[in-house]
Amino acid sequence: MRVGRAALLSVAVAAFLPVAAQAQAMLQPPPKAMPANPTVDQNDWYKTGIIYEVYPRSFADSNNDGIGDIQGIVKHLDYVQSLGIDAIWMTPMFPSPQADFGYDVADYDNVDPQFGTVADVDQLVAQGKGRGVKVLLDFVVNHTSDQHPWFQQSKSSRTNPYRDFYIWRDPKADGSPPNNWASIFGGSAWTLDPKTKQYYYHFFYPQQPDLNWRNPKVEKAMFDAAEWWLKRGVYGYRLDAVDTMFERTDLKDNTVYPGVDAFGVPNQDHVNNSKQPEVHTELQRLRQMVIDKYPGRILVGETWTSDASELVQYYGPRNNELQLPMFLNLISLPALTAPDLRQRITGVETNSVGGWPSFALSNHDSRRAASRYPLPAGASTDDWAKITGALLLTLRGTPVLYYGEELGMVNNDPQRIEDVQDVIGKKGWPKEKGRDGERTPMQWDASTNAGFNTGAKPWLPVAPDYKTRNVAAESADPHSVLNFYRTLIALRRTHPAMSGDWKAVDTDDKQVLAYQRSGGGKTVLVLLNLDSKPADVPIEKTDTMEIVRPLAINRALLISGSIHLDPLGVYVAEITR
Ligand code: GLC
Ligand code: CA
Repeated sequence: MRVGRAALLSVAVAAFLPVAAQAQAMLQPPPKAMPANPTVDQNDWYKTGIIYEVYPRSFADSNNDGIGDIQGIVKHLDYVQSLGIDAIWMTPMFPSPQADFGYDVADYDNVDPQFGTVADVDQLVAQGKGRGVKVLLDFVVNHTSDQHPWFQQSKSSRTNPYRDFYIWRDPKADGSPPNNWASIFGGSAWTLDPKTKQYYYHFFYPQQPDLNWRNPKVEKAMFDAAEWWLKRGVYGYRLDAVDTMFERTDLKDNTVYPGVDAFGVPNQDHVNNSKQPEVHTELQRLRQMVIDKYPGRILVGETWTSDASELVQYYGPRNNELQLPMFLNLISLPALTAPDLRQRITGVETNSVGGWPSFALSNHDSRRAASRYPLPAGASTDDWAKITGALLLTLRGTPVLYYGEELGMVNNDPQRIEDVQDVIGKKGWPKEKGRDGERTPMQWDASTNAGFNTGAKPWLPVAPDYKTRNVAAESADPHSVLNFYRTLIALRRTHPAMSGDWKAVDTDDKQVLAYQRSGGGKTVLVLLNLDSKPADVPIEKTDTMEIVRPLAINRALLISGSIHLDPLGVYVAEITR
């Protein structure tokens, strides 16, 4: 049934609140300690949970060497708990030459000394457990480091037992690579090994050779690695780059399109080396043979899909694949508009029947949401942070927050190629500046280096706004982004409507994304003005609906019979129906 504007018009206002009270960023102070989550079934904890991505290199540097570490995370677990986080996803901290900052793993069963030790991870797991914070690790399934002993063996000779752990092919007759597949990190996806005179395949950097998942020994070795950490109490994995686990064995060329990528390579569609059907059968095996042996353990997917119908394939035919394939689609949109978001979210809602959705708006590979979109006149970065937070935290699916998103942290991009750390930024400059900007140190307080450490030069520069945009300052400011997030998180954890249905209302509105969450006999209305102009949502006073309680408001007022929303205005309220 289509719910038009009429439905929204008939929200009656029985109890008018003073305008001043409504203009507050929130109407009740956020709780100091978050209430316990109403977990229905222990194994379904992720459905009511919030996941928080921690990039260990950038979160907190406990030994003041400029690089964040696991003890730094342990020291800030109280903060993570106070935010109302149910699980952290820690990006790779395994031994690695750091060609791709940890996404080039040289040993799956260990910890890089620059981040700490296995004992530190054990401590993180134990101390997290005491605070209701589970630990998820990042499982880099597509490739290893070229320094991994498997690859060292593999490249040593054509007859080495590990040769078939990776994808080796003969050159073409003219000595060129076996086909036209390009690496998304620049150049050909094939690198010639001069000693054995074959090319090996790498979807990412040459230092990240792709594993050959068609070899049962690879599956066995990788499943063992996954289980190694589960036995230590880790609660599951965010699976890295799952799309690229398999490629066509006939090595069919990709179709080339006009134009070149940031690295000067002709654009191509990657259909023959990503999203192969075998990805799903393999992920289902990982789920069945490893994850399901340990109750409550989950798989979260780095699943870049063009739309919801593609996303649902990752749940598996019997919900036997990933519990949380992340809908990352919203991250890559050049703009957030009400009609587009409504259509995409409705797509996830209607397609993921039986599966549980998961949404993210920022991560370590994408510009931070607060600084991603143009600012409407009169609005600030804080307003973008608040409206994107309101969206993420009031949707039905599990939100995956990126560290600092709750502060409204912005990108701090390198200005000169000499300052770039991320290799894709060095290779693609200036078209591709790399991902340093979204990976800068967490902003804890106004002290040296934002409290990231005690004075050593951080691996990336702290963003210039850290004196005011930090945990300490924002905790003390009732109108801060952080306190807005705390209010929304508390709402998500306690309000019965927030564990219920999602339904778009006023489906023709071009400016305001409006939806209701309903459950436990209660309804919450969410109005998000994504337009660059103000919007007024009229209220019909005669109807039976009424606003019971405003819950989270920014740049919005209930006045003269309508809810007035400035550009990026947010109005979240409980209503009766
Ligand atoms: C994923 C990671 C990204 C990494 C790439 C290669 O996309 O999120 O950071 O560079 O995989 O491992
Ligand atoms: Ca350190």
